[in-house]
Amino acid sequence: MLGKTVSRREFFGEVGKLATGAALGVTLVGFEGRSKAEEGTWPWPYVQLDVEAVKAKAYEIFPKGHCMYATFGALILSMREKGIDERYKILPLEMMEYGKGGLMGWGTLCGVLNGAAAFITLVSRDYGKLIDQLVGWYVETPLPIYRPANPKIEIKAQSIAGSPLCHVSVTKWCEVSGFGSKSPQRAERCRRLAADVAGKAAELLNMALAGKAIPPWSPSESVKGCLKCHGPKGEVKDVFGKMECLMCHPGMEKGH
Ligand code: HEC
Ligand code: HEC
Repeated sequence: MLGKTVSRREFFGEVGKLATGAALGVTLVGFEGRSKAEEGTWPWPYVQLDVEAVKAKAYEIFPKGHCMYATFGALILSMREKGIDERYKILPLEMMEYGKGGLMGWGTLCGVLNGAAAFITLVSRDYGKLIDQLVGWYVETPLPIYRPANPKIEIKAQSIAGSPLCHVSVTKWCEVSGFGSKSPQRAERCRRLAADVAGKAAELLNMALAGKAIPPWSPSESVKGCLKCHGPKGEVKDVFGKMECLMCHPGMEKGH
C-alpha cells in the first residue's frame, strides 16, 4: 500500500485540485476485480496508445535528454496529448536524465528500460509482471529493430544484449557493429532502442488495458538451477536476481 505521509494535495499543489482521469472514470490498468477507477495518487490513468506513434516520439526526443528520458518522455507526452489527467502536464521529464548511460554513465540498468519501467509503474499495479515481460523481451531480442523514416545516420547491426545492464548491452552492440561506444552510430543505436522499448511498453500496457492476460515470465532454467541453492529457499540463500548467472560466473554450470 502507498504510504499516506504526503497527501496528494501537498504533492501536486494546485493541480491536485483539478479533475483527474480517475474522476473522469478512466479505467486503470492491471486492476483486477476493480474495474471502477478510484480517486487517489496512484496508479495514474492509462488509455490505449498508438504504439508506432510512441516509438516515433521516443526517437524524436532522445537528443534532448538521452535514453531514460526518451522512453519515459515518449509515454508521458503521449498521455499528455490524450488530455485525461492534468498531472501528466506538470511532471518534469528532465528528472529522468539521470538514467543516461545506465545511471550517469555507470553502465548499470539500461536507461531505456529504466524509463519505460518507471512509466509502467506509474500507471499499473501489475508493474511487476509487465516489467518482467519487457526486460525478458529486451534481453533476448536482436535490437534495435526501429528504423526512422529518414535516418541521418544509417546503422544495420543488431545484437542480443543477454542482460539488462547498459554496459553489456552497449558493448555487445559495439562488438557486432564494429563501432565505438562514443561513436555517433552507437548513439543512434540507443536512440532506436529507446523507440523499440517505449513501443514495447505501450504494447504491453495496451494488452493489459484490453484485459488480455500478460503471460508469466520466469528466469531461464540455468538461473533457476543456480537459485535452487543460492536463492531464498536454497541451502546457501545468498543471492537474488534474474540475470543470467553464467554471464558473470562462467564455468559454474559444471558444479563447484
Ligand atoms: C547444489 C547446490 C548449488 C547449486 C545448484 C549451485 N551452487 Fe553455487 N555454491 C553452492 C555452495 C554450497 C557454495 C559454497 C558457499 C559458501 O561456502 O558460502 C557455492 C558457491 C558459489 C560461488 C562462490 C564460490 C566460488 O566457487 O566461486 C559462486 C560464484 C556460485 N556458487 C555460483 C553458482 C552459479 C552461477 C550456479 C549456477 C550455474 C550455482 N552456483 C549453482 C551450491 C550450489
Ligand atoms: C553482472 C554480473 C553478475 C551476474 C549476472 C551474477 N553475478 Fe554473482 N557475482 C558477481 C560479482 C562481481 C560478485 C562478487 C564477486 C566476488 O565477491 O568475488 C558476485 C558474487 C556472487 C556470489 C558470492 C561469491 C563468493 O565469492 O562468495 C555468488 C554465490 C553468486 N555471485 C552467485 C550468482 C548467481 C546464482 C547468479 C544468478 C542469479 C549471479 N551470481 C549473477 C557478478 C554477477
